[in-house]
Amino acid sequence: MSNNDILRVAVVGGDGTGPEVTAEAVKVFKAVAALEGIRYELKDFDLGGERFLRTGEILPEDVVNELATFKAILLGAVGHPDVAPGVLEKGLLLALRFRFDQYINLRPVKLFPGVETPLAGKGPGDIDFVVVRENTEDMYAGVGGWLKKGTPDEVATQTAIYTRKGCERCIRWAFEFTRKRNQKKQLTLVAKTNVLTYGHDLWWRTFQEVAKEYSDIKADYNHVDACCMWMVKNPEYYDVIVTTNMFGDIITDLAGILQGGMGVAAGGNINPDPGGVSMFEPMGGSAPKYTGMNVINPIAAIAAAGMLLEQSGYPQAGQRVMKAVQSVTGTKMKSQAAGKMGHGTKEIGDLVCEAL
Ligand code: IPM
Ligand code: MN
Repeated sequence: MSNNDILRVAVVGGDGTGPEVTAEAVKVFKAVAALEGIRYELKDFDLGGERFLRTGEILPEDVVNELATFKAILLGAVGHPDVAPGVLEKGLLLALRFRFDQYINLRPVKLFPGVETPLAGKGPGDIDFVVVRENTEDMYAGVGGWLKKGTPDEVATQTAIYTRKGCERCIRWAFEFTRKRNQKKQLTLVAKTNVLTYGHDLWWRTFQEVAKEYSDIKADYNHVDACCMWMVKNPEYYDVIVTTNMFGDIITDLAGILQGGMGVAAGGNINPDPGGVSMFEPMGGSAPKYTGMNVINPIAAIAAAGMLLEQSGYPQAGQRVMKAVQSVTGTKMKSQAAGKMGHGTKEIGDLVCEAL
């Protein structure tokens, strides 16, 4: 992408504290865009539990069509105490991932300076890896059903779907990413080939085949249960992990807490194809009890904006944001927990802008 392009970003603040953290991410985005000479257009979209309760709409077709014209979506949080679990997750978040075929879920796991990890004796030099999670298949595909629902003979199925195309494009992207990252040059496939002998055999065979094209990358393998152990015991072992959707969901929460928790962890839902629409989000939820109090941590949302820039063709701007974030966590913040940061939400946004 050349710098003559206009980077068009759809902003979905969402529910609870989502709009507050997103406002700080937008503040930082605008500041770095000015410094780097990036031309952009931002547009707000009203989506989430509030809109659903008001209008009964979750993701209207005309909104999807309009979102399709943007390069990226910056998402705050969706989730509302008055909306049943699953409704917004499936109807909005997963719907967007699937509709825009965002087949990579990118979760950088980096312990920023000054951030506390629950792991004794580990510091920023030890916790710095990336999880590449497949984002469109597996048990998330929504294949399954009930038989004799509500009776003592009830049967429920929830089928894990894996396709050659789906795992190959994810694995290939992960190899490319590992090469570009240029650190240990090690890609670890995390799966469960000893039990899931069909689906994860497909992943295994595909991984071995694609690995042949990347002789500069060490192709490594961990069972998912062992990975959970190693991630806690020796996080420094990992460089890049590639994994299935369901396992990726689970291990990235474990990884997220190692890097300081939901206040700092960010994720990208990426469609790497030309013209693809990607979506970036802080990993934390809408934390409704903190809404409007200026106490929630915006670092994860700001990091999501940094990732958005990095993945949208502005790596220098993205890295500039990540450096500024680390200088703020390292020198200005007392804690990453809501209400204990030593500053308010808005002030953290201002500090990151100053550090740019
Ligand atoms: C995540 C979340 C989602 C997921 C939920 C909210 C549907 O946990 O992004 O990891 O399971 O993918
Ligand atoms: Mn999750």
